[in-house]
Amino acid sequence: MENNGKPVAYSKTTITELMIPSYANFGGKIHGGILLSLIDKVAYACASKHAGTYCVTVSIDNVEFLQPVEVGELVSLHASVNYVGRSSLVIGIKVISENVKLGSVKHTNTSYVTMVAKSDDDKPTPVPMLILETKEEIRRFVEAMKRKELKVSFNKKMDEAKNTVDINEGIDILKGQRCMVILDGK
Ligand SMILES: CC(C)(COP(=O)(O)OP(=O)(O)OC[C@H]1O[C@@H](n2cnc3c(N)ncnc32)[C@H](O)[C@@H]1OP(=O)(O)O)[C@@H](O)C(=O)NCCC(=O)NCCS
Repeated sequence: MENNGKPVAYSKTTITELMIPSYANFGGKIHGGILLSLIDKVAYACASKHAGTYCVTVSIDNVEFLQPVEVGELVSLHASVNYVGRSSLVIGIKVISENVKLGSVKHTNTSYVTMVAKSDDDKPTPVPMLILETKEEIRRFVEAMKRKELKVSFNKKMDEAKNTVDINEGIDILKGQRCMVILDGK
């Protein structure tokens, strides 16, 4: 294998875990935090395999749980490298939950984790290029580039919105919302 490139297939990773009762909340469903921890774990495994180094998590995007996960289900997290920059990698993770007794499978969420490869002195370090071997891999790489661009412009707009909030105007906007303003006890 070339030193400066690795195919997507090289680092594809799947983790399957049984949802045991201690993972459940008071409503009997699996805690979102358990799934987040598994997402982080599989992203690390996939990213570090591609990078060949230790990696850190920078962000997890699109965490929207579309369906609840029940105790006794088998959760599988399928991870692959969608995009690489110089030291950053975007790992796409599809989470599937399976009820083996009913033979039913549900897609609970798809998330995108940005990781950065670190050298032994804790500095961002270059990762191998990504070798794209299928149309789907090309599509995912291009989508990740677009998502990155959109995030930069979204973050810029959010910063602008934060800096332009006028409290008096803000109080006006709150009319009709489910909140009460009690400033200085009045
Ligand atoms: C993420 C981190 C490595 C960035 O460090 P930095 O000194 O800003 O490094 P750089 O500016 O050289 O950026 C390194 C890469 O991270 C990317 N990056 C930095 N901040 C980012 C962000 N908020 N979102 C996405 N990518 C980001 C840069 O685009 C760059 O990518 P590239 O090399 O592919 O072009 C650093 O902030 C860090 O170590 N954070 C803590 C991570 C951690 O501990 N995670 C566990 C959570 S408890």
